[in-house]
Amino acid sequence: MTELHPQPIRARAMGTSLARVDGLEKVTGTASYAADQRAPGSTGPLWCWLVTSTTARGRVTSIDRTETLAHPGVVAVLDHTDAPRLADTANGELAILQDDRIGFRGQIVALVLAETPEAAREGARLLRVEQAEEPFEAELREDNATYRPDKVNPAKETDTEQGDVDGALASSDVVLEQTYRTAYEHNNPLEPHATTAWWGEEDGRETLTMYDASQGVHGVVAALAPMLGLDKEQIRVMAPYVGGGFGSKGEAHAHVMAAALAARTTGGRPVRVVMTRQQMFALAGYRTATISHFRLGAGPDGRLTAIEHRAQEQTSRLREFAEQTASPTRMMYAAPNRRTSHRLAVLDVAVPSWMRAPGEMPGMFAHEVAMDELAEACGLDPIELRRRNEPSADPETDLPFDTRRLLECLDRGAARFGWQGRPAEPRATRDGEWWVGTGVASATYPAMRMPGNVARVESLEDGCYAVSIGSVDIGTGARTVLTQIAADALGVGPDCIDLRIADTALPMATVAGGSTGTSSWGSAIVAAAQAFRAEHGELPTPGLSVEASAVRGDEAERFSFHSFGAVFAEVRVHADTGELRVPRLLGVYNVGRVVNPTTARSQFLGGLVMGLSAALFEESVRDPRLGHVVTQDLATYHVASHADVLGVEAEWLDDETPVFTPMGSRGIGEIGIVGTSAAIANAAHHATGVRVRQIPMTADMFLT
Ligand code: MOS
Repeated sequence: MTELHPQPIRARAMGTSLARVDGLEKVTGTASYAADQRAPGSTGPLWCWLVTSTTARGRVTSIDRTETLAHPGVVAVLDHTDAPRLADTANGELAILQDDRIGFRGQIVALVLAETPEAAREGARLLRVEQAEEPFEAELREDNATYRPDKVNPAKETDTEQGDVDGALASSDVVLEQTYRTAYEHNNPLEPHATTAWWGEEDGRETLTMYDASQGVHGVVAALAPMLGLDKEQIRVMAPYVGGGFGSKGEAHAHVMAAALAARTTGGRPVRVVMTRQQMFALAGYRTATISHFRLGAGPDGRLTAIEHRAQEQTSRLREFAEQTASPTRMMYAAPNRRTSHRLAVLDVAVPSWMRAPGEMPGMFAHEVAMDELAEACGLDPIELRRRNEPSADPETDLPFDTRRLLECLDRGAARFGWQGRPAEPRATRDGEWWVGTGVASATYPAMRMPGNVARVESLEDGCYAVSIGSVDIGTGARTVLTQIAADALGVGPDCIDLRIADTALPMATVAGGSTGTSSWGSAIVAAAQAFRAEHGELPTPGLSVEASAVRGDEAERFSFHSFGAVFAEVRVHADTGELRVPRLLGVYNVGRVVNPTTARSQFLGGLVMGLSAALFEESVRDPRLGHVVTQDLATYHVASHADVLGVEAEWLDDETPVFTPMGSRGIGEIGIVGTSAAIANAAHHATGVRVRQIPMTADMFLT
């Protein structure tokens, strides 16, 4: 395999709105998702129902299977007494059915296998699971979030300190001190989590094959192999189509292990697990609630002297996940004195995980509402306040940004949105029964490239190429943009690229997460294309093949890589009922080159809508007396629907960053959700004069 520092490629297919290469399969219903896949054998798969604890902490004392096994269609029950043993149980989320301990309400305590999903579900209902409950703690509070993790996701410093924050605050003309809160949220992709698994044998060794609704097939293998006592080569995972994830399919969750363990007991017959929507509220990860304590110090001109962001959030006793809530605060605005910290409550709850812009989304809600409050305190327009605090280099590292066109995003957005002439005072505009206001917030998201990606280029007939990489398209359009990148890297049209993805039989690829996919996989594809051309020229005979990975130079030591954006919102608040409407939402982004305007716009609009949804609706209500989320369906966990989304628009600056990737692109999956709920909160304040420092914002908060 070749390692190559890929050179920038010329955009021909890149930048065009190539229609989704898998569009036909999707709209005609022939795209097969993890639960649709045919598995080997003549009988079809056994259906596996997940039986979960009704106790937040304690022990399983007995399980009576009599009625379950008597139910027609039920084939077997597995629990901690007879499930296959794992070789490694360090991952407390995945190490299910290994002992009688219960770590959270909703944890898997048994599996029922049956010929039909209905029989499996009824068998699960008939299972008598006795549990001994122990005292537990399931509530995040300011006074119990005191644990200091070693690192926050993804391996960032927990605390940072620069200069003398307390001294600067004591001598600042303007000091803002406020606390901001964001709610628990559940990812809720359209496709529920599902796995079809079967064991076999090859060359005298056991094999495990799975179709899994996953954002990263290679990551599933890496997580499961050591636990099952297998080499990675013994497991194959495929995810040809995935119906969204928003981070919840970024890592294997316990149901994947359930499918693997159950299938190990069936003599080779495939086993299928499909989570219910309700189970997704306990078993598929979620966004922790956050509490952000902000202190901002500024001169009378609005120039920041000090920024302090102390974040509180939660993790699970079973497995640590520490979200990077305060990390955007470290690089967003100039200020000589800065402090950030993260403290966690360690609770008897399900393990929190990634949800679209973990850290940046809740952290920037707090920071951008705080900036709006500071602008008001200084008597400045909020855009002008940001202009005065624009750093000349990354405030945390002192490295120059490769491009940071935040002010252009703000100015471009202001012009398009009609910001000029906006009343400086809140509660100034009334339209019939509605108070009307506008708000703005900045957005940012780090640009990251993951190491370890490998791509393969093979020459086909007619001067065309097969391009292979084991990455997953979770609905973002990755299949399409990678086709465009491969076409430009090989100097052929997109029609001439046969792109093969979503299978661990293909070369190593990292997760579709952290907005890293296009940057990481695309760079590997460009490296493989350039290695192929160097070795075999431009007119190769068919059947030649080259594998390569993209190495980076020292650019990460020379530049700070982030994307930026500006979000504008118009909010109307009903004077009598407090009802909120968002008639206009606009995001303007600086994200490097946009590889496909159609799929990019969908990502931005989706992010903006998800930010609107967080601002007004999304909240997983956790009952601390039971330890679990009671809003565990889409009737009680409200997600923005069509009727809530009125005018939403996105655009981007013409840009490219060849120093970051050979495509000149950065990454766009998450930035759309960042800042959006702050822009809406700021607009709601401008409309009504009521400052709400938490999301979701509900009507009662505006009844004055
Ligand atoms: Mo995204 S939350 O990084 O899958």
